[in-house]
Amino acid sequence: MAKPVIWITGASSGIGAAAARKFSKEGYSVILSSRKQEDLHKVMESCEFPEDCAVLPLDLAKTDELQDKASEAIKIFGQVDIMFHNGGISQRSLALETKLEVDRKIMEINFFGTIALTKAIIPHFKAKKSGQFGVTSSLVGIIGSPYRSSYSASKHALHGYFDSLRAEHFVDNISVTMICPGFIKTNVSVNAMTADGKPLNQMDDAQANGMSAEECANQIFKGLKKKKEEIYIGGKEVMAIYLKRFVPGIFSKILLKAKVR
Ligand SMILES: NC(=O)c1ccc[n+]([C@@H]2O[C@H](COP(=O)([O-])OP(=O)(O)OC[C@H]3O[C@@H](n4cnc5c(N)ncnc54)[C@H](OP(=O)(O)O)[C@@H]3O)[C@@H](O)[C@H]2O)c1
Repeated sequence: MAKPVIWITGASSGIGAAAARKFSKEGYSVILSSRKQEDLHKVMESCEFPEDCAVLPLDLAKTDELQDKASEAIKIFGQVDIMFHNGGISQRSLALETKLEVDRKIMEINFFGTIALTKAIIPHFKAKKSGQFGVTSSLVGIIGSPYRSSYSASKHALHGYFDSLRAEHFVDNISVTMICPGFIKTNVSVNAMTADGKPLNQMDDAQANGMSAEECANQIFKGLKKKKEEIYIGGKEVMAIYLKRFVPGIFSKILLKAKVR
C-alpha cells in the first residue's frame, strides 16, 4: 500500500523540520518545502525513511509560482493527503516604527502565500474526495501581543480564512486543524523581522526556555490524526487563550504589564 503523503512548508528548520521527521517515522511520505534547498536536503536525510521523502523548494512570498509548485508536489508521489502550512516569519518591532513594506511582507508570506497554496491544492482534494489542512498559527493568532502587530494580524487572518474554508469544504471531506503554539525552542525570534525588515538575529528568552520542536511535532501529529479543529501547544503561556476567552478584561490588564519584546 502506498504511504499517505504530507506536504510540509517551513520544513528546513524548527517545527517543520521536527514534523518532517515525526511524520516520516510514522510511515508517511514527506514533501519538504521552504526556500533553503540545502537545509531541506539535510532535514530529509535526517528522516527515518529519506527514500520516501522529497524536497520541493519554494518561496511563499512568490505567490505567482505557487500554483505550479502544487502541481509539482502532487506529481511527486501521485497525491497529497495532508497539506501542512507551517512556513512563516515573525516580527519584533513596535507597530508605529514598522515600515509598511515590512507589514506587507509578513502578510505576503504568512497569509497570501498560505492561501495561494491552499487554492492550488483544493481541486486535488476535491477530486479524490478527501484532504486535510494543518495550519500553524500561534497563540498570537488568538490574542494580540506587543511587538508582533502584523505577525499577530497575519495569524488572526488565517483563523478567519480557514474557519470559513472548513465550513465551505466540509461536504468535500476536507478538514482543517488550526495549530497554535506558544513558545517553542526554534529560530523563530532569530529570523523575526525588525522595523526595517532586518532579522532580529537574537534568540528570545521565551523561545530558549520553550518546549522542544520535537514535542511540538508530536502534539501536531496527534492533533492532525484526530482531525481536531484547533490545538494549543506549549507551557503555561497557553493559559493566555483561556484568560482572553473567559476573563477578557483581566487579560487585557495583564497584557499591559507583560514584559514581552
Ligand atoms: N517557535 C515558536 O515559538 C512559534 C510560536 C508560534 C508560532 N510559530 C510558527 O511556527 C512556524 C514555524 O516556525 P519555527 O518556529 O519553526 O521557526 P523557524 O525555525 O524560523 O522556521 C521557519 C520556517 O519557515 C520557512 N520560511 C520563512 N520564510 C519563508 C518563505 N518566504 N518561503 C518559504 N518558507 C519560508 C523557513 O525556511 P527557509 O528560511 O528555508 O525559507 C523555515 O523553514 C511559523 O509559521 C511560526 O510563525 C512558532
